[in-house]
Amino acid sequence: MSKEIIVSPSILSADFANLERDIKLVEDNGADWIHVDVMDGHFVPNITIGIPVVKALKRFARKPLDVHLMIDNPEKYIEDFAKAGADIITFHYEAVKPENIEEICKKIQSLGCKAGISIKPKTNQNDIIPYLPFVDMVLVMTVEPGFGGQEFMHYCAQKIPTIQQNGKEDLIIQVDGGINDITSKVCVSLGATSLVAGSYIYKSKDVKKAIESLRA
Ligand code: DX5
Ligand code: ZN
Repeated sequence: MSKEIIVSPSILSADFANLERDIKLVEDNGADWIHVDVMDGHFVPNITIGIPVVKALKRFARKPLDVHLMIDNPEKYIEDFAKAGADIITFHYEAVKPENIEEICKKIQSLGCKAGISIKPKTNQNDIIPYLPFVDMVLVMTVEPGFGGQEFMHYCAQKIPTIQQNGKEDLIIQVDGGINDITSKVCVSLGATSLVAGSYIYKSKDVKKAIESLRA
């Protein structure tokens, strides 16, 4: 039987002056999670939102907050993000020392969150195989992290089968970057079980249809 697809709209494409309205919009129209892109201006060239904003979102969000940390030294901030209300915390493989990965995952899970590890386009899928037993989710970036609205990179999606074959049965495989009604099908057919989409959802005239088209 095919697995349920988790749709996680990225609020990077929402109106930051109307986050409550824009989160409600996707929650009312089929979103499973709310994807929150945290950028520090070091790990990626852009700066977005941080801990106080996650805390504010938690006051009204009804769906789990899927926090994607595009920051250096993520281990320093995990507890703060968990306390602020993150439900899923994903850190980048490239931002940590490999020998700390098991401990970072255990810390995230001990705070009651799901632990995700993400790889950038240039990172080989085989690099994270030793750590798959520790994570609940792998986020395969299908664009260079840092900005919304970029074009989907097909070769990145080709990493998914290796991850699926080496991961546990219930491992969530998420893709992020350039996801729309066409690229989502490519990713799901390769084994993705969670789709992040920012511009495709927030720029569509019919959000419900857009979310349905990802799941179809
Ligand atoms: C990019 C972010 C994404 C971004 C996706 O660094 O991680 O979550 O919002 O935006 P779209 O769906 O527009 O490519
Ligand atoms: Zn993201």
